Amino acid sequence: MCGIIGYTGKNRACEILIDGLRRLEYRGYDSAGVSILDGGEISTVKTKGRIDALAEKLKDAQHMGTTGIGHTRWATHGAPNDTNAHPHMSKDGRFAIVHNGIIENYELLREKLTKRGFEFQSETDSEVVVNLLDYYYNGDFKEAVMKVITRLEGSFALGIVCADYPGKLFAVKSMSPLIIGVGVGENYFASDVTAFIGHTKNIIHLDDGQFAEITPNEINVYDPLGRRVEPKYSKVTWDAEAAEKGGYDHFMLKEIMEQPRALEATINPRVKNGKVSPEGLDGLCLEKFRRIVITACGSAYHAGVVGKYVIEELCRIPTETALASEFRYSDPIVDKDTLVIAISQSGETADTLAAMREAKKRGAPVLAIVNVVGSSVATLADYVLYTWAGPEIAVATTKGYTTQVAMLSVFAVWAASRLGTITPEREAELTHALCELPERVQRAIDLSSNISRIAHANYKHSSLFFIGRNIDYACCLEASLKLKEISYIHSEAYAAGELKHGTIALISPEQLVIAIACYEGLREKTMSNIQQVKARGANVLGVAREGDRTIVAEADDVIFVPNTEPLFMAIPEIIPMQLFAYYVAKENGCDIDKPKNLAKSVTVE
Ligand code: F6R
Repeated sequence: MCGIIGYTGKNRACEILIDGLRRLEYRGYDSAGVSILDGGEISTVKTKGRIDALAEKLKDAQHMGTTGIGHTRWATHGAPNDTNAHPHMSKDGRFAIVHNGIIENYELLREKLTKRGFEFQSETDSEVVVNLLDYYYNGDFKEAVMKVITRLEGSFALGIVCADYPGKLFAVKSMSPLIIGVGVGENYFASDVTAFIGHTKNIIHLDDGQFAEITPNEINVYDPLGRRVEPKYSKVTWDAEAAEKGGYDHFMLKEIMEQPRALEATINPRVKNGKVSPEGLDGLCLEKFRRIVITACGSAYHAGVVGKYVIEELCRIPTETALASEFRYSDPIVDKDTLVIAISQSGETADTLAAMREAKKRGAPVLAIVNVVGSSVATLADYVLYTWAGPEIAVATTKGYTTQVAMLSVFAVWAASRLGTITPEREAELTHALCELPERVQRAIDLSSNISRIAHANYKHSSLFFIGRNIDYACCLEASLKLKEISYIHSEAYAAGELKHGTIALISPEQLVIAIACYEGLREKTMSNIQQVKARGANVLGVAREGDRTIVAEADDVIFVPNTEPLFMAIPEIIPMQLFAYYVAKENGCDIDKPKNLAKSVTVE
């Protein structure tokens, strides 16, 4: 998704903007550009393609300006080309803007502006913003910005410079991510702290509708009516190193390896004196909920599928999962007696946000499980549990997913204890198992030394199946998505008992079937399903708990996973599946951290 950055200070803006844009690359983009304000003039350089191409274009130009804005664009309106790339400039060169989001009423605005003699160079929705600024400007930058914002509908984070105001930036946030970085004699804004974390860790969160006037020494935050509001300062705990690869070939591998630490960060602060007690849930009256609905997208949704099994088993509250993109349009039956749990790593997923709004409109309280502090999901929710997994850069989520499952498990144990649906002995057992998870995951990593060999033996398959039951089935959903998105190999996740109802027709000799048989309660049943596909000639890769020798006799190859509490098995068992996807993608020469057609943060519908 698009990334924006702005800088004003004493250093050359050009290098700082390019560096910041590189750090935003993970969001996915197809063109990039910068505008530098210098000596009362704005100079804009932009290009289709990678940031390296932009840096090349900028190489010979002497851009000495110390104020500027930059953008990486992921095309939504109009093809990825030089003209549609941001920044967009007004015809007289007075304004330049960068935009992330979608201006929903841009066609109407474009029509009106065209009638007033404005010309449009690009096919983008964003260009209306710069022409509106030109239209409303009468010498007062702030007033023009305010007038423009009130005309825009949709989601937008904007960065704006004006040639008449050296050293000044305006940053606007409305349902798209935008954070301000507070430095000394220099200030920043960006879609994500990663862009400026090497320069400052002090940040200001803007609420939706707010905008900021930024100079090197001053930041004023305003509400939509232009009244000054107190800025919300905070400090990020990540450092630049944490946002870089740390010696691994890919961010994805680094993030897989970071999972023990990430899980510690999620679980440990929530266990006090041997009891699970997550913060921020005061006032959440569990007794009144007749149902729980978990809503999310992609892997976060798969975390929700695991959560459903765990919550129902421990709390005995009927729990459903709903894809956020479907839930938002399903006229959902939720009310004040339904707890809606929204899950999101980025906290900026448009469908998840829309599902949350829909739930809230109907009176349901929303609990968010989210990684990014101060994100839109966190801001919109009534209750928030942060996963604290740290920045996730690879497009394919790994630690984001496992920490979501861990947070749901923490919630389930806490809720079950409050509701009295588990005994104190069982609570102690589960709490102990939660605390052991980081070590179990480290063991899962250690046991995975054979995965690159297994990936090498299997990377040429064009299609494969994952089968499992209960929590193992939820794990299959995530394992299959991981493989598809980074290796481009088709796979399907099947509830093992469902295979015989049709899909088994596709099992032919040499077909690879990955059978996850870790969930203790249904292990024997899954073993029968392994025999069924073996009988049709399939090549079976079994995934089983350490010590399970019987599977060795049935499967062609086996991956072992350390044992843990059966309800939490989804966490260690996904580790070898993440690594399998990683090594298969590597064997196939895929762009692992930035798979084609994908973006890290899906901020449009
Ligand atoms: C897959 C993946 C996506 C995300 C989904 C939701 O590896 O990362 O499926 O899980 O787009 O994103 P968040 O969790 O940011 O709401």
